[in-house]
Amino acid sequence: MKKLVVLTGAGVSAESGVKTFRDDNGLWEGHDVIEVATPEGFASNPQLVLDFYNQRRRQLKNVKPNLAHQLLADLEKHFKVEIVTQNVDDLHERAGSSNVTHLHGELMKVRSIANENLVIDWDKELNLGDLAPDGNQLRPFVVWFGEAVPMMEKAMQIVSQADILLIIGTSMQVYPAAGLIDFISQETPIYFIDPNPSISKQNNLTILEKNASTGMQELQKHLINTYL
Ligand code: APR
Repeated sequence: MKKLVVLTGAGVSAESGVKTFRDDNGLWEGHDVIEVATPEGFASNPQLVLDFYNQRRRQLKNVKPNLAHQLLADLEKHFKVEIVTQNVDDLHERAGSSNVTHLHGELMKVRSIANENLVIDWDKELNLGDLAPDGNQLRPFVVWFGEAVPMMEKAMQIVSQADILLIIGTSMQVYPAAGLIDFISQETPIYFIDPNPSISKQNNLTILEKNASTGMQELQKHLINTYL
């Protein structure tokens, strides 16, 4: 089976009702990123940050995977599919995708502020005083701006072995995630699905200026007809 690697961003979850970050009235519109998505913000007002992620965790329980998530899961019948996502939602997993690497962490997990490897599942409110097994305060298991991206090494390895690369719903503005495209071999075909694509022309690139669900409906047929 050919290896199909899929790099996704907030746009793949947009049709599930989850806000993107940089579209108008996106998630950051209402918030100062520095206040809610940096270690400094957490240090100066931890409850504000915990509330921001509590709100996103509550919302996630009320949304479900959309057709794009489902079609990506279905492709596992025909390809060895690896999802590398910038999203912290669990919609790929809930749609049935079995190999999902979260570059920026996971909303439904939390960790000790003193140990990024002490991670526990968490689907409820997280507040000051909720402690990890090591006795330290728990924080969201999310990579904040300025923090290391521990899964990057694994993601580079996955992308370097892709026979085909799909990129769905990302503005390609945040590094190191956006730099993953540089780790594929020259002849690897790239398919980019986004209604407002922000990628420079390059060989082997096909752009579908569509929403994730529509683009995936078209692309699924093409992938099966072309690469099986
Ligand atoms: N289908 C497909 N793509 C869509 C849709 C849709 N229905 N709606 C919007 N998009 C596209 C937008 O055109 C944009 O290119 O999704 C992309 C969303 O870009 P961003 O909001 O920048 O989200 P993302 O690229 O995932 O951000 C990367 O930045 O803020 C950090 O950690 C955060 O993981 C996030 C990272």
